[in-house]
Amino acid sequence: TNHAELIARLPKAELHLHIEGSFEPEMMMELAERNRIEIPFKTLEEAKAAYDFANLQEFLDLYYQGMNVLRTEQDFHDLTWAYLLRAKADNVRHVEMFYDPQAHTERGVAFGTVTEGILSALERGQQELGITSELIMSFLRHLSEDDGFALLDESKPWHDKFVGVGLDSSEVGHPPLKFERLFAKCRELGFKLCLHAGEEGPPAYVREALLDIGADRIDHGNRAMEDSALIEILRDSQTPLTNCPLSNLALCVIDDLRDSPLKAQLEAGLLVTVNSDDPAYFGGYIGKNYEAIQKALDLTDEQLVQLARNSFTASFLPDDEKARLI
Ligand code: ADE
Ligand code: ZN
Repeated sequence: TNHAELIARLPKAELHLHIEGSFEPEMMMELAERNRIEIPFKTLEEAKAAYDFANLQEFLDLYYQGMNVLRTEQDFHDLTWAYLLRAKADNVRHVEMFYDPQAHTERGVAFGTVTEGILSALERGQQELGITSELIMSFLRHLSEDDGFALLDESKPWHDKFVGVGLDSSEVGHPPLKFERLFAKCRELGFKLCLHAGEEGPPAYVREALLDIGADRIDHGNRAMEDSALIEILRDSQTPLTNCPLSNLALCVIDDLRDSPLKAQLEAGLLVTVNSDDPAYFGGYIGKNYEAIQKALDLTDEQLVQLARNSFTASFLPDDEKARLI
């Protein structure tokens, strides 16, 4: 059968997408001009040539530099809208989107500017494209827990707009337990907890996220596969893992897509999903991630259907909505 056709046809949910990571160089150049900001490249070719990463940190350095161009509420709206149009083209029906407010407030862009720009585009996506969405406010783990508490406080007027909170940025040296009190508070406030763990960091970080913090989802989770007892816990709890194949390849988490843990995770009965992470930087949106991983791991039609179903099961949608979308 034609896998690309099946992939295009399957309704999908995207659960691991950083909106700032969907900032395409074309739009970056446009907004740089609109906001009169200098950027270090003048052509698409120069931008794409710079997107050659040896690890997570090399990517993050460019990611934070790129988003410096985003200044106004309109910028955040345009960024989010452009992503939603691409999601629509890939038959995405539901998205749970991360954003990194601290990366904007630190450089003087107000929390409300960022958040309202994104929210108005998400609302428009629901109205005009029929894509439902949730927003996840992510804490930068290279900053302190007190910085996280300050963000939680600053974001208070918008708390009813977030389904959950996340933890991202430089992983190694910043274990989940660094944020134990912050996540306990977030749990108390009713937020779902999504933690990046086991992307570069060891299986112990996945254990902390799951067992000490009580994560509702593990973002990436690749290195959980090094710990057989942890695999059992993930299977028994059906804790979702949001795998990002092209991201793993681009950041040298794996040397080859054939080394992706995704098929082994599926076969072990884990609730694994396919996502795009930072598609403007890693060479493809969600459909391309499905296509690339299908090919590399020779996934069957049944496995592709399972992955798409998993994406709804693993979402924070209410059960009746899941049933309607699957
Ligand atoms: N921020 C954006 N993308 C990320 C990733 N893949 N890992 C950690 N932090 C991120
Ligand atoms: Zn991520």
